[in-house]
Amino acid sequence: MDYEKFVDLQIAEIKETVGDATAINALSGGVDSSVVTVLGHRALGGRFKTYFVDSALMRAGEPEHIVKIFADMGIEVGLVDARAEFLAALEGLTDPEEKREAVTKTFYEKVFSRLVKETGAKFLFHGTILTDIEETVAGIKRQHNILAQLGIDPQQAYGYTVIEPLKTLRKDGVREVAKVLGLPAELTRRIPFPGPALATRIIGEVTEKRLQTVRAATVIVEDELADSGAFQYLAVLLNDKATGIRDGGREFGEIIVVRCIESVDARTATATELDWPKLNRICERITKIPGVNRCLYDLTPKPPATVEYI
Ligand code: XMP
Repeated sequence: MDYEKFVDLQIAEIKETVGDATAINALSGGVDSSVVTVLGHRALGGRFKTYFVDSALMRAGEPEHIVKIFADMGIEVGLVDARAEFLAALEGLTDPEEKREAVTKTFYEKVFSRLVKETGAKFLFHGTILTDIEETVAGIKRQHNILAQLGIDPQQAYGYTVIEPLKTLRKDGVREVAKVLGLPAELTRRIPFPGPALATRIIGEVTEKRLQTVRAATVIVEDELADSGAFQYLAVLLNDKATGIRDGGREFGEIIVVRCIESVDARTATATELDWPKLNRICERITKIPGVNRCLYDLTPKPPATVEYI
């Protein structure tokens, strides 16, 4: 595909569709929403407003970090604190699809609807890619950003029109578009991170305490595997506990799973053959997190597993 042509075509289409109206998008800092942010700004300038929604489900320091990267690129990003709303919506939920639905609903019905009202925007831009659509349609799981394909009309349901400039591309294609747009390497090379964020990496209920545990493990995994060249790496908090020993006494502790995969487009994946000292170091650091006394490495390819755990 000619990605320069793709960019020109998308910018022309956005201009035509949006006309003189205002549009907004939510930036997560992943390559998909980063590309949409730059496309929107190129096409609409000051009539395109970008927000980072702090859902309480983000990685350590992420909101401030992403706002700063875009500020350095001359793009202002508004920070929206929706932490309490997301935590309240997730309270008591353990079913994976119910958790995904709660995140989706909070984004669309509450946060985006409010932003649309406040800004007078008629359009909401999304970083949906082809893989998201295919997996939702195939019934594998509900991707948080899929609406039309599930029979939801956002105009009718929420009062705004959704524009998805990347819906014909897969992850590798999005990275090519990012290069054409001149996004900094830190963004184009960022490993994928799902919209429902750390909620996809907690089995069982999502609470502030459990988020703290998986967030601490994520810092370690991302630090240790940054130079692995792998497609994606992550930490997951299981719902089971295991007996262990801490300070000479018995501890019934948390279990963290580390996942590191090789993939081109996330449709299929295999576990990375990490070397033993690296695995040992990760295990050692993760089991120092308070309350965590076991660390496992996941060898399962996709399929039969998926990348995330919910
Ligand atoms: P799965 O778990 O479906 O993940 O094998 C495939 C790729 O997609 C990411 N992922 C998501 N991305 N919204 C997103 O924007 C989602 O709801 C979502 N679920 C999974 C995942 O991190 C992996 O790269």
